[in-house]
Amino acid sequence: MSHKSPKDFFAPLAVGAPAPLREIPARPSRAIHFFDPSNPKMVDKIPQMVGTVDVLLGNLEDAIKADNKVAAREGLVRIAQETPGLGGASGTTQLWTRINSLDSPWVLDDLTTLVPAIGDRLDVIMVPKVQGAEDIHYVDRLLAQLEAKAGLTRPILVHAILETARGVANVEEICGASPRMQGLSLGPADLAADRKMKTTRVGGGHPGYLVREDPRDGDVTGPRAIFQQDLWHYTIAKMVDACATHGIYPYYGPFGDIADVVAAEDQFRNAFLLGCVGTWSLHPKQIEIANRVFSPSVEDIRHARRVVAAMGDGTGAVMLDGKMEDDASLKQCLVLVELAEELAA
Ligand code: GLV
Ligand code: MG
Repeated sequence: MSHKSPKDFFAPLAVGAPAPLREIPARPSRAIHFFDPSNPKMVDKIPQMVGTVDVLLGNLEDAIKADNKVAAREGLVRIAQETPGLGGASGTTQLWTRINSLDSPWVLDDLTTLVPAIGDRLDVIMVPKVQGAEDIHYVDRLLAQLEAKAGLTRPILVHAILETARGVANVEEICGASPRMQGLSLGPADLAADRKMKTTRVGGGHPGYLVREDPRDGDVTGPRAIFQQDLWHYTIAKMVDACATHGIYPYYGPFGDIADVVAAEDQFRNAFLLGCVGTWSLHPKQIEIANRVFSPSVEDIRHARRVVAAMGDGTGAVMLDGKMEDDASLKQCLVLVELAEELAA
């Protein structure tokens, strides 16, 4: 699948007009691995990681100290210029960045430095704390001007982080705000703070957010099963629907308890089953989990292919292993088969 013609991106966008449904490049992005471009230890590892992870993201926003903002920006420029295979039309690993938020003193310099210097290598710009379509319109217009000035022919795509209550309320208009929109990630840490949730974690569940079984035989002091609930189900489901409506990709986001690989895998798998295509990776050990979880399993692919074969022209109903399959189950199976083919390509 190829990009739209650059002129579709550079054409003036009527602010507020719905963006047309379109095809964005279907490139695997199961793990978006974050690194700090001002941290020499992390930077040294980048060349070896090219080709082993779908996306490397140079982070300029939160987690980068104010004193290091310029060093991180300059570090990212150097890495992009000096690392073969990273980003751009022929890159084997995509190069993304997370710029500073639009209300920060650093974001204008982020964009006006990065686009002329490495705009040909940058695949996607992640914009944090997006509140509504107006934020995307601003970035879209500025990118169009900077790209035109730099003579770039390949448009840089935009990814928004859903991490404010207002952003969640406006998720539909954010997804449709520009033909550059590539996808959305959940930002559970900022979102929790903005909503005034009483948590202190980065993603994942909470032992206090639970449902307890009714008392057995009316005995309120007796043993009762406890089921922990998913704090993020509502937001992820809402994000997936908005992304599907606009033909862009939904992602889980960060899972901060690096040692708890089991809970990370559970969160990622729930997101995959609900429709997400990938997640963030904050440590190399999360890359392996993400690559595995966001790829359909061998068994799922085998079953999906059997259903496709059994359904012949794709209409009607057949019985397979005692279960009814029809046009709608075929469509679900095709999602898995097509994903497996995209990942194998
Ligand atoms: C990510 O940026 C988050 O706030 O969770
Ligand atoms: Mg955040």
